[in-house]
Amino acid sequence: MRQQPRPPWAFWDRIARKYAGRKIANPENYQATLTRTRSYLGPEDKVLELGAGTASTALLLAPGVGQYTASDFSAEMVKIGQEKLAADPCPNLRIVQGAPGDAALGDGPYDAVLAFNLLHLIPDLPAALEDSARRLRPGGLLISKTICIGHALHMRLLIAVVRRIFGVAFVARLTPHELEAQITAAGFQVIESASYPAGGRSRYIVARRGDGDL
Ligand SMILES: C[S@@+](CC[C@H](N)C(=O)[O-])C[C@H]1O[C@@H](n2cnc3c(N)ncnc32)[C@H](O)[C@@H]1O
Repeated sequence: MRQQPRPPWAFWDRIARKYAGRKIANPENYQATLTRTRSYLGPEDKVLELGAGTASTALLLAPGVGQYTASDFSAEMVKIGQEKLAADPCPNLRIVQGAPGDAALGDGPYDAVLAFNLLHLIPDLPAALEDSARRLRPGGLLISKTICIGHALHMRLLIAVVRRIFGVAFVARLTPHELEAQITAAGFQVIESASYPAGGRSRYIVARRGDGDL
């Protein structure tokens, strides 16, 4: 009998507790990302975070904005996030289970949509970016940090091995330029794009939603 394919969130459900307990790989880069991101957010802003994991970043950023919705498609990640929120209450933070396109993410309009270490994991990225654009007000910001693996043969092999061993459903092999092009095609104007650390594979991109109808 053929096995049913596992849903894409099964991997994340399985590793959620471990993920929650892991140390931040590069605290300096993480702080730089938080500082840059805070510089774009205002105290009244309504913010949506996609792929928020166990809400570690949400708990740090939410006190500086008006309303913060942290979302993730993994029920386990959301559960751990809610446990952390119960232990460290933050009245303007809500944590919901959902993926781009889901009603659970709320209609907005949001002032900012955040996606850290997520966009390379989404199979239909154009649809997810268009969904984010629709949830933002005109002029609202998409703030993202994405691992841009690119097309080098050794990275393709590495990803194939990682997917096979760990059961990650999908990993896109984007260059920073390709990612920027997809963001632009979804109705955004890129206003910042930088690698942290310089020359590394993690690309921080901030893009503004255009004024036109979507
Ligand atoms: C690499 S982790 C990043 C978590 C957190 N943003 C961080 O930077 O630590 C990716 C997260 O995105 C979630 N995720 C992966 N694909 C997703 C999708 N299509 N929709 C929503 N969440 C997704 C996973 O459950 C996981 O929590």
